[in-house]
Amino acid sequence: MSKTFQRYTITAALPYANGPVHIGHLAGVYIPADIYARYQRLRGRDLVFVCGSDEHGVPVTIRAQKEGMSVQEVVDKYHQLIKNSFEQFGISFDIYSRTSSPLHHEVAAAFFKKLYDEGKLIEKVTEQFYDPEAGQFLADRYIQGTCPKCGYENAYGDQCERCGSTLSPEELLNPRSMLSGAQPVKKATKHWYLPLNEYENWLRQWILEEHRHDWKTNVYGQCKSWIDAGLQPRAVTRDLDWGVKVPVEGAEGKVLYVWFDAPIGYISATMEYFRQKGEADKWKDYWQKEDTRLIHFIGKDNIVFHCIIFPVMLKAHGGYILPDNVPANEFLNLENEKISTSRNWAVWLHEYLEDFPGKQDVLRYVLTANAPETKDNNFTWKDFQEKNNSELVANIGNLVNRVFVLTHKFFEGKVPAASQPTGDDQVLIDAIRQYPEKIAQAVEQFHFREGLQELMNFARVANKYLTDQEPWKLFKTNPERTATVLHYCLQMIGNWAILAQPFLPFTAQKLLQALAMEGDCSWEQAGNPQLLAEGTPVQKIGHLFEKIEDEVIQKQIEKLKSMSQSNQDIAQGNSYKDTIQYEDFAKLDIRIGTIREAEKLPKSKKLLKLSVDMGNGEVRTILSGIAEHFSAEEVVGKQVCVLANLAPRKMMGVESQGMVLMAEDKDGRLVFVSPEAVVQAGAVVS
Ligand code: MF3
Ligand code: ZN
Repeated sequence: MSKTFQRYTITAALPYANGPVHIGHLAGVYIPADIYARYQRLRGRDLVFVCGSDEHGVPVTIRAQKEGMSVQEVVDKYHQLIKNSFEQFGISFDIYSRTSSPLHHEVAAAFFKKLYDEGKLIEKVTEQFYDPEAGQFLADRYIQGTCPKCGYENAYGDQCERCGSTLSPEELLNPRSMLSGAQPVKKATKHWYLPLNEYENWLRQWILEEHRHDWKTNVYGQCKSWIDAGLQPRAVTRDLDWGVKVPVEGAEGKVLYVWFDAPIGYISATMEYFRQKGEADKWKDYWQKEDTRLIHFIGKDNIVFHCIIFPVMLKAHGGYILPDNVPANEFLNLENEKISTSRNWAVWLHEYLEDFPGKQDVLRYVLTANAPETKDNNFTWKDFQEKNNSELVANIGNLVNRVFVLTHKFFEGKVPAASQPTGDDQVLIDAIRQYPEKIAQAVEQFHFREGLQELMNFARVANKYLTDQEPWKLFKTNPERTATVLHYCLQMIGNWAILAQPFLPFTAQKLLQALAMEGDCSWEQAGNPQLLAEGTPVQKIGHLFEKIEDEVIQKQIEKLKSMSQSNQDIAQGNSYKDTIQYEDFAKLDIRIGTIREAEKLPKSKKLLKLSVDMGNGEVRTILSGIAEHFSAEEVVGKQVCVLANLAPRKMMGVESQGMVLMAEDKDGRLVFVSPEAVVQAGAVVS
């Protein structure tokens, strides 16, 4: 099914205004959305790109309670911070609005009212938890008690953070209200429900049939399992005093459920944008015309809301278009652990901006190269350094620097004339012609990593050409060839700058300025080996990217560790790692091994090199960080647990073929985890 679209409405999930944004948000949602929007703009497509702060719901009211501020103060503070971070990173929203705006309240209330008036909602009275002292109904998150599964005393009404179980408030032992500490009681209350079940056939047709081939598999799969599990009516109102008031009689003290009002924020933000432009009715084109392509950029935790609940709302309403695609991403981990706001295991954008001023494109680059497009992915500071130093600096940075310096040295800083191209030149000319299409194809399909890869491959072709031609040597003997070589390199850089705009907007801008090309930088200009006229001045710009030193990276790693305290918390039993399934555990191959030999690794304070008998005549070399706790002599003969299927890793020139398991007490003392009686080497631990 291929439709022709006249315009685009591009949305990025509205972040909760309950905290700053971190690299996970940027990698999963805002950078992909921005690349896409910038690219489509460069292609001259008519579009709006909207976002804003999600300022309702329990996440913000809880935050206010924690920070001892009013809810309004909290959302004001974080709205400003988030908006500013996005601006600094060049996320090119046409509007960044907020759901506390009067216009949004009006639009969201009217949406609800229409469904209500047309009988599309179900009214139901149920018993819910109520705090008799505070005189308020309690959202699940506002109830704490003892976890029935693990006995943790501070589990929440929806989840136990120690054992990871999903709970309902009814299951908690000794429940108490987080508002007053009182024991909650059950009280009848009336709410309105969206009967998702009535839309099941339609959803099956629309998602499972019509979008079978164009939605990403992760998105499609989640939708399918939700639909297959059977859809239930879902409450779209709450007993709360913060949010959009329910606009019907007899609903005092009730507001719209945050997930009902927030996505309507995309519509109200579009309205606000066109009002500001003095074209108050124009929003209708972007939300009502069937030839508009609506695309939602979100993270995977938002899939059900954007693919099922919001579409059902839109369908029930009847006055709006439906999303054509929802290219949701998976999650980004940080140094191999899940990013966690509560544990402060995150790289916050506002802090990055302070620590790395002017290096927004470096982070954009690394996060795009590692985007969690098909599976969860990982950010490490080491990789950040590596990608900066050996890709940005060494590839495009080095190319531009060499070409610009030589142009100044030999040709007065102006694009020199080319003579008849040779076969070598032709390779570069072909690349100039081909890369725009390669990159466009990838971006159109939401394959942003691949698009960026191609952009760098393009630079690689030119770097190789330059290195092979050696214009710095050539000038003495053949100034004419030198001119031709630099001519085509400059053409390539001009083309590259056009194509880099969606991905690395700051860098692209610098180059476009240096080559006086700001007027002609639409996508269609690229692919042209005669982009720059002979004699065009080339401005000196210094280095595009700078090397990042080890100390800088070390500092970030230490900052992360000291901020997070995660390990201490785990050790004190305050929190466990996330729950895993048995299959996850079953992947570990743990065996008993007997240490036969041990020696201290020269030059290393921590590492002992062990020869471990794994049974059946197999002896493995394993490096273990225990040299400060044990001498080589005292470990020989010990039986230990070995993680036998850990990928081998080279340290200090020696390959370690497994890991010896240790326990650490609170003073940091290490002991072996050993079998209680001697067993044969190779015995399986399970
Ligand atoms: N605030 C939500 C979150 O951070 C996302 C809301 S997206 C919207 O997970 F569609 F509701 F706006
Ligand atoms: Zn528990």
